Amino acid sequence: MTEKPVAIACDHAGYALKEELKKYFERIGVAYTDYGTDGVCSVDYPEYAHRLCTALQQEKHELGVLVCGTGIGMCMAANKHRGIRAAVCSDTFSARMTRMHNNANVLCLGARVVGVGLAEDLVGVFLGTAFEGGRHQRRVEMLNNLDENGKSEER
Ligand code: RB5
Repeated sequence: MTEKPVAIACDHAGYALKEELKKYFERIGVAYTDYGTDGVCSVDYPEYAHRLCTALQQEKHELGVLVCGTGIGMCMAANKHRGIRAAVCSDTFSARMTRMHNNANVLCLGARVVGVGLAEDLVGVFLGTAFEGGRHQRRVEMLNNLDENGKSEER
């Protein structure tokens, strides 16, 4: 579980689920920061992904949750940011494994794909699972190198 507040953001399609997840955070005693959007008026998901990812890059948060209709657009936008490793998950196995093996720091959810109960489970598993390190550390460093110079490793 992260020491810092969890960041959460959404577009209009993800707004209702984001509000449910905020109630979930309150029930389980997890602090969060909401980066919008604040209603169901149509907005552009890259803007909200950028707000949340910038806050992670500034080390205000260790982990974030992005919600849009499918989770896919948010994930694409988030992964354009240096140091962000975002994964769309709709099963708890993937949510666990992406923390353990990929050290994912952003969970993307599709509000039109998963229900509230499953979304809560996905978030709970994501927040409650630690990175395994070991051989996976080298692979995450290779991802970081791709961020820096478009090469998976220096040779
Ligand atoms: C909005 O209609 C929808 O395109 C968006 O929420 C998301 O699913 C994009 O990937």
